[in-house]
Amino acid sequence: MPPQSLTARVGRWVWTCRAGFEPHLYEELAWAGAQPRPLGEALVESEGQQGLAPAFARLGFQVLASTSEEALEPLATLVADVVAALRPGSPLVLQAFTPDTPRGNALAPQAEALREAVRARLPAGRLLEDSERAREAGAQIVCLCVAPGLTVVGAVLAREALSLAAGGRQRMRRAGESPSRAAMKLEEALHGLAFEPGRGDVCVDLGAAPGGWTQRLVARGARVIAVDPARLMPELASNARVRHVQESAFAFAPEEPVDWLFCDMAWRPLEVAQLLAKWGRRGWASHLVANIKLPMKDKNPILLRVRHTLTTDGGWKGLTVRQLYHDRDEVTVTAHRV
Ligand SMILES: C[S@@+](CC[C@H](N)C(=O)[O-])C[C@H]1O[C@@H](n2cnc3c(N)ncnc32)[C@H](O)[C@@H]1O
Repeated sequence: MPPQSLTARVGRWVWTCRAGFEPHLYEELAWAGAQPRPLGEALVESEGQQGLAPAFARLGFQVLASTSEEALEPLATLVADVVAALRPGSPLVLQAFTPDTPRGNALAPQAEALREAVRARLPAGRLLEDSERAREAGAQIVCLCVAPGLTVVGAVLAREALSLAAGGRQRMRRAGESPSRAAMKLEEALHGLAFEPGRGDVCVDLGAAPGGWTQRLVARGARVIAVDPARLMPELASNARVRHVQESAFAFAPEEPVDWLFCDMAWRPLEVAQLLAKWGRRGWASHLVANIKLPMKDKNPILLRVRHTLTTDGGWKGLTVRQLYHDRDEVTVTAHRV
């Protein structure tokens, strides 16, 4: 990657990502012909393109203004003027965030203060507080990205946004809970889908042990065939809605087609993709949610082959490939058969 730049150009797009994944995001954007530029830690800028949804981006927004101004009052006035000029009439969701790095996170109080100061300058009737309603309301998300030495103001239509969470950080932990990271990965993946597995659905969970995903699916009323040579948590092993098949996923075939195929197997990505493609070709499941491990240095060439295997060989449709907030060296794919 070339050295980073410290201004975002108006009209281009800024993408947030997991810290350390900038080179992967940069490469993905370059391969898409989007002329990327590194903007700073956990931030890459590029041209915008119809339908561009990089796997390693958490969120993308179009740049409206970029400044090195740090004093709150002039900054808030500048941002409010820019925001006031946005398409009149459409509701706005105002989000402030920092790059997800130690230096960025230290600016969280400044980001929140900026959001409050901008909010106070905008007509209350234009602001939508519940970002979960933003898509149906036709809202625009206004992004205030406060980075070291740089504040970028941008916007994205909620219905085109990669995430409705500020900066794409979709935290799934609820107060008083301590779910496993695996369970949060699944919750985040399901959160992004138009509909979820529910009562009466049959799910197969490949690589299910110790059972975080299976437990979340059972809690939604689904029946789960959990496939893993390893042991499940005792409360799941004795649950009437769970059948544990203690064998390799590569040896398993369902007795009849199921509604959902889940997969979080710790195994080589290309072999997992071939297994998921077999499920697609044979029509063994209608919906797919899979976590693909990418521990290798060169991730994009592998991801290209995974995409090709799932769609061309497996016939999976509507494929999404995203490194979610709770994903580390991995991405989550979703798809359906019809
Ligand atoms: C990251 S863990 C899965 C965590 C699980 N989703 C949860 O929420 O508890 C990966 C699992 O993949 C399983 N695994 C690895 N190779 C497998 C195979 N060939 N067939 C089935 N499971 C496999 C491992 O035994 C391990 O339990």
